Amino acid sequence: MRNKIFLFLAAFMITQSAGSEPKGLPPLPVPTDNPQTPEKIALGEKLFNDKRFSATGEVACAHCHAPEKAFTDLKKVSEGIHDLKGTRNAPTVINAAYFKSQFWDGREPSLERQSTQPFVNPVEMALPNHEPILKIARTDSEYQKAFKAAFGKSGDAITMDEVSKAIAAFERTLIAGDSPFDRYYFGGDKTAMTPAQIRGFAVFLGQGRCVSCHAIEQDHALFTDSRFHNVGIGINQIQDEVPGLAQAFLKAKAQGVDVDKAVLADKKTSELGRFAVTNTVDELGAFKTPTLRNVAVTPPYMHDGSLETLKQVMVHYNNGGVNQKGERVNAYLSGGIRPLNLSEEQIDDLVAFMEALTSPQYVSVATAKPSN
Ligand code: HEC
Ligand code: HEC
Repeated sequence: MRNKIFLFLAAFMITQSAGSEPKGLPPLPVPTDNPQTPEKIALGEKLFNDKRFSATGEVACAHCHAPEKAFTDLKKVSEGIHDLKGTRNAPTVINAAYFKSQFWDGREPSLERQSTQPFVNPVEMALPNHEPILKIARTDSEYQKAFKAAFGKSGDAITMDEVSKAIAAFERTLIAGDSPFDRYYFGGDKTAMTPAQIRGFAVFLGQGRCVSCHAIEQDHALFTDSRFHNVGIGINQIQDEVPGLAQAFLKAKAQGVDVDKAVLADKKTSELGRFAVTNTVDELGAFKTPTLRNVAVTPPYMHDGSLETLKQVMVHYNNGGVNQKGERVNAYLSGGIRPLNLSEEQIDDLVAFMEALTSPQYVSVATAKPSN
């Protein structure tokens, strides 16, 4: 019921764009209070790439979401200032404009809200607060012109509201569809996918039951149900500690701990997943279903980057989400994760199908073996 009311409100809060989206994508949701303009998008891109907005002057958003790496960093977990490691794999920003929530645990509801966090996270850009950003935005002559052009504002009238709106507007241009799958399925071009990819698609819909979470709609596909599931990654290895960790976290939260900082600072706290946001025991170890668009060029995989290849992901699902010793110990595992009895060929076909989801502008991303 709560979800329904939320959807109803959301429908009022967004305007739909003109329908020039690439094949396979739905109309782009744009908040009514942050319409897309060329000036705002250009400003957002500049902010996204500005290293000065970090404690060392070395880390921009693009450090972990690099255009030439399909807007991720191809690392197991991200590294911020002084190469400090976080706890989670950087998702690509491509198509994030469509997600109903941001971050692996969905702790922020919008791109606008998401964008204020990395600046002040101690393992990312590590500013003490947002003041240094505003100082540059208000005094740098190029920014003065750009904020005037985008928002008609200057001096103290420039706040984090404008900064985050501009970044979000830029991110809303990073959308990509028109993959071989889109041309095959939505475009009716039966030659767009290879025979192996077509067989893999059948497994995806049938025996693999992948589509129950990585959703495909009638006229578009985001390959996510926007929900949270425990598919037996990270948390599998720390089962015995989970009740204690969960309790300690609730206590810290009651005392006002910052969730963004807590989950990216400590690996075990990170594994609590969606629980850290909702306090709901059912959501222990649950993470957002990621899109599968461009997945072949964004290794490694899962919220902790623990699986290096798509084949390893398929084997994980085929085994039914068991831990490294092959045991089914996870008390919070999603009911949708069961052994699949797929053959070696079916597993390879699923991998081939994943490769059919790459958009033309990212096919040439070089995915050397992921580092760290
Ligand atoms: C040090 C590396 C790093 C930097 C710098 C960084 N990010 Fe991220 N980004 C990440 C990681 C890691 C996550 C996942 C964190 C989580 O889910 O808890 C993430 C998540 C996101 C998401 C959510 C995507 C999704 O699928 O849910 C967006 C959008 C995003 N970042 C945009 C930005 C913007 C904008 C900036 C600059 C203001 C930025 N990032 C700076 C590493 C980084
Ligand atoms: C119960 C829901 C569910 C089912 C069923 C499911 N997935 Fe997932 N998938 C998820 C979630 C949630 C994650 C992220 C889990 C995590 O990081 O802890 C994920 C992650 C992935 C990833 C890694 C993406 C990335 O960017 O890291 C791939 C690839 C993937 N799934 C493919 C598949 C395939 C193929 C199938 C069918 C064999 C499948 N999934 C079945 C929910 C599901």
